[in-house]
Amino acid sequence: MKRNPQEPSKFDPVAEDDVSTASSGHRRLFTRAVEHACDFRDRLADRPPRPVMSPGDLQALLDGPTPEVGEDPLTVIDALSAAADPGLAGSAGSRFFGWVIGASDPVGVAADILTSAWGQNAGAYATSPAAAMAEKVAARWLLDMLRLPRECSVGFVTGATMASFVCLAAARSAVLARVGWDVEAEGLADAPRVRVFLGADVHVTILAALRYLGFGERAVRIPTDSEGSMDATALAAALNEGQGPAIVITQAGQLNTGAFDPMPAIIRTCRQHGTWVHVDGAFGLWARAVPEMANLTAGIEDADSWSTDGHKWLQLPYDSGFAIVRDSQAHRRAMSVTASYLPVVDAAEYDPGKFVPELSRRARGFAAWAQLRTLGRHGVSEMVRHHCALARRVATRLSAERGVRVLNSVHLNQVIVSFGDGALDERNALTRATIARLQADNICLAGGADWHGHWVLRLSLISSPLTETDADRLAAAILSAWRYVQREQS
Ligand SMILES: Cc1ncc(COP(=O)(O)O)c(C=O)c1O
Repeated sequence: MKRNPQEPSKFDPVAEDDVSTASSGHRRLFTRAVEHACDFRDRLADRPPRPVMSPGDLQALLDGPTPEVGEDPLTVIDALSAAADPGLAGSAGSRFFGWVIGASDPVGVAADILTSAWGQNAGAYATSPAAAMAEKVAARWLLDMLRLPRECSVGFVTGATMASFVCLAAARSAVLARVGWDVEAEGLADAPRVRVFLGADVHVTILAALRYLGFGERAVRIPTDSEGSMDATALAAALNEGQGPAIVITQAGQLNTGAFDPMPAIIRTCRQHGTWVHVDGAFGLWARAVPEMANLTAGIEDADSWSTDGHKWLQLPYDSGFAIVRDSQAHRRAMSVTASYLPVVDAAEYDPGKFVPELSRRARGFAAWAQLRTLGRHGVSEMVRHHCALARRVATRLSAERGVRVLNSVHLNQVIVSFGDGALDERNALTRATIARLQADNICLAGGADWHGHWVLRLSLISSPLTETDADRLAAAILSAWRYVQREQS
């Protein structure tokens, strides 16, 4: 049926005159998007790290009536770029030290652009053989760089939260299978109770993963020291108090302090009890790539599962995480689905969807492959070492100032700081005021958190472009905010 050119079809919003062929359409469109991307990156160093436009104004830039008649895609992409720009955080730049956020390195972004353009569904080998093989190869490189057992299976997921979910689903399957319970078939309702142990300073997403898995948050919380490291003796005592299936969740890189749990002692105890040991190493696991950090990360390789992020220290674009499981049968059992219409892989093929919760999924392996190949083992190691050195540099500068206290031992890339010399309440108030001033100045971005009753400024030095000059600018911005607060007080 011939369409009236006055009435655009919803499936073909581009007027025929605007785009002579499909090929020139996508070429112009992709090129324009890349131009906007490059403009954004070119201006990143000069942008304030924290967007300052009000939520209402930001919404207004994107808002409008529900589109009825389609528009020219080039115009839409231009409009998107202009409307989103004032609300974009500077997290890919060198003035951003909030949360724990990597920099979306250009090579990962470039690979990600290709991934989107290729339009692959990485659910199965058959839906994208190249995506499947990219994951297979990147997984091997990853295990090698992190010095984890070669036999592990790796699920490419959205981040550490889902990675922990996947690993703990495998753990649940394995520890219940050992007592004759098939959790995949029977569920949890009448299952033997699984005891879950975790450190008191566990990341909140572990609790979320436990909730998603039907365990709830009723885990045994093991005391931690002032750095947030689990007390291995207390864990041993807690494990001795009962029996049956058990999972111990440890941490490599505490969110605030960067601390590691004492893995050799934990592993020794857990082996006596036949317990599954999981390591949440969202960012800290990458310290395994640095030979001088071998002491800090010793014993991690003896765990049963590990979760880590690609979008933190590996600098992959959001979103990217890895669920790594030694018992690949349990991993596969916990995650895989079968149906007559889904192809069965033969021995030479590889089905990445068997190790993740989703069926249809983004082909995250391409960006991981490109990033690992671009950095190499040496580049990853250098980057982690460099960020840790910068964190120590900032900590040293800050500690030299009267009234400024770095509260953690800076082994990794995280620094927590409190301000003032008085009583706790007074210090907490001064710290909040200093953070507020730092954020108002908007030279560098960092936020606050509660650490064992102390309100602290949290700094995460993890963004790939950071230099010593950036670290010094951060220290100077913090000290300037602190001096301002002191002047206001006097
Ligand atoms: C130790 C730890 N675990 C888990 C997470 C959650 O990671 P994601 O937000 O990538 O899911 C984080 C985030 O900072 C973390 O620091």
